[in-house]
Amino acid sequence: MKLNIAILPGDGIGPEVTAQAVKVLKAIAMEFNHIFTFTTGLVGSAAIDKTENPLPQETIDLCKKADAVLFGAIGDPKYDNNPDAKIRPEQGLLGIRKELGLYTNIRPVIAYEDILNKSSLKIKQIKDTNILIYRELTGGIYFGERFLSEDGNTASDVCEYNRLEIERITHLAFKAAQSRKNKLTLVDKANVLESSKLWRRVVQEIALQYPNVKVNYMYIDNAAMELIINPRQFDVILTENMFGDILSEEASVIVGSIGLLASASTGDKHAMFEPIHGAFTKAANKGIANPIASILSAAMLLDHFGLDEEANRIREGVDKSLKLHITTPDLNTKYDNISTTKVGDFIEDFINNPDETNLNFTNIHLGQSTII
Ligand code: IPM
Ligand code: MG
Repeated sequence: MKLNIAILPGDGIGPEVTAQAVKVLKAIAMEFNHIFTFTTGLVGSAAIDKTENPLPQETIDLCKKADAVLFGAIGDPKYDNNPDAKIRPEQGLLGIRKELGLYTNIRPVIAYEDILNKSSLKIKQIKDTNILIYRELTGGIYFGERFLSEDGNTASDVCEYNRLEIERITHLAFKAAQSRKNKLTLVDKANVLESSKLWRRVVQEIALQYPNVKVNYMYIDNAAMELIINPRQFDVILTENMFGDILSEEASVIVGSIGLLASASTGDKHAMFEPIHGAFTKAANKGIANPIASILSAAMLLDHFGLDEEANRIREGVDKSLKLHITTPDLNTKYDNISTTKVGDFIEDFINNPDETNLNFTNIHLGQSTII
């Protein structure tokens, strides 16, 4: 298959982790005889520095022409304590989601068997967790009308949804549930918010078309607690934009590191793949950023094009890296010298030599004679 992939490394650790995902995709292309071409574009703080625009038109054009986009991370602390900044890096990410019509954001939350002890939660509580969060991505309070009074003392952000916006992602979430455990939980605040009441009404109507899927409804405050107390009860979680942002980041506590959570953002024409983590600027250029979320986002990219074997090869590589503790310091207590690049090298090597035990790799690259 020929794929033309736009790379938007963005800010902070974005470029380092994305470089590992690109390396892994190149290994897949070689191993499975595909032709992947990569073109890089500017976004976020990096784009503001060069063009004064967090999302230059050139980047939009590049992404629209591409078959898929691989996105790194966005944000820079220099903007964080300046609420008066008119231009912010995040506008680049929100802008590209809107421009490409990426209304469905899919975030898998998997408690990996080999690193259950990395979570701050109890193992028995999180074991076997496997959740797919369907987060609506181009509506709600993120994109509603904003207001700031002239005297600067009153502000508002409108959370608006229409039926169509709810329907299109709801059907996808139900279909996903059908291919999993047939369970869907709508998370909302329908005891208070009009927009949530609309979500509930629409989802109740659509549920009739999927009689084999068991649907339940949960308020966001309760869901935030249930996700930690009993995450195994969830299969597919469907929710609006901001609730999905918050819940998915909370869910990373189950997995053990936010550096492991990948996502796919899809629309009718385009698709983008990105880790759920931010730019983590403090960790940039130190070789300590976990590239796995980006690498797993690349696997989701391959899934999107039906390249199942290829995507699974990447996932096996990730599993193996977790098993052998070939991981960055956010997860490792065993070795202290494993960099972002080494994790990428290991998974690349696994893709080319899946049948080997990788013992050679670990010995050579970790510079130790017996480590297992
Ligand atoms: C995410 C991020 C973004 C969001 C930010 C960087 C705008 O937190 O993708 O989860 O809020 O959607
Ligand atoms: Mg977020």
